Amino acid sequence: MMVSFSDMLTTARRERYAVGSFNVYNYETIRGVIESGRETRTPVIVAFGAGYLPNMEVDEVGALVRTMAAASDTPVALHLDHCKSFDVIVRAVKAGFSSVMYDGSALPFEENMRQTARVVEVAHAAGVGVEAELGALARGEHSNEEDASEIYTSPDEAKVFAQSTKVDALAVSIGTVHGMYKGVPKVDVGVLKKIAAVVDIPLVLHGGSGTPEAIIRECIANGIAKINVNTEISVNAVDKIRALLASGKGWHLSEISREEVGFVKEIVKKYMALFRAA
Ligand code: 13P
Repeated sequence: MMVSFSDMLTTARRERYAVGSFNVYNYETIRGVIESGRETRTPVIVAFGAGYLPNMEVDEVGALVRTMAAASDTPVALHLDHCKSFDVIVRAVKAGFSSVMYDGSALPFEENMRQTARVVEVAHAAGVGVEAELGALARGEHSNEEDASEIYTSPDEAKVFAQSTKVDALAVSIGTVHGMYKGVPKVDVGVLKKIAAVVDIPLVLHGGSGTPEAIIRECIANGIAKINVNTEISVNAVDKIRALLASGKGWHLSEISREEVGFVKEIVKKYMALFRAA
């Protein structure tokens, strides 16, 4: 069943677990994420990044996810990930997304606040939740997010931003990276603690792939209620499909497609178990 983004994450922050937000780009990834939630009875966020618009249109994603979620008794939210376009956000709202992320993180603070507030006004009028981002994540390996210089989120700015924009969730930058880590992750939970002390809405950790378990647990204990995972799903599926193709069997594309669903579920279920157990 489809549920409210805000209710899902407010409960998670209060009860100190995180909901996994897993990126999808095609039928196989969508099915892998929704089946993982159903089979483990775990609430889940299906995240479609605006960067994947060449793969699927928002109304196609909306129709598919809503149909599949209706057949599952586990809570599902459909989220538009990293979107800079007001027009695409409006299309996602119309397509039945539960929430949208307006990514104004590259803008000056005041401008990010102004644009985010505008998105909140439109989205909330339709009962759709909003996530925004302050600060910026660096880019690790195999990511297809944009490159950026790392900027840690300022707790003072986060407080003003959350109060004035009325967003439902705030993505923070504390040292995780988009993609797989090139070296040892340098996550500063101290910054997160300072943000969580002054911002009471659910906080979001981007760059979940490869983040060590102990760090994930500490983040969840300190206000993180949503964790995004993309790259590791792709890396695992691509590696395993490559191995299948190298095995010499004459594969039919329909068989590869079913295998892909299974490879997606391996990573999604691993992170679901970690986020709930924390
Ligand atoms: P990873 O690709 O590092 O898992 O990050 C995903 C993400 O933050 C999507 O918004």
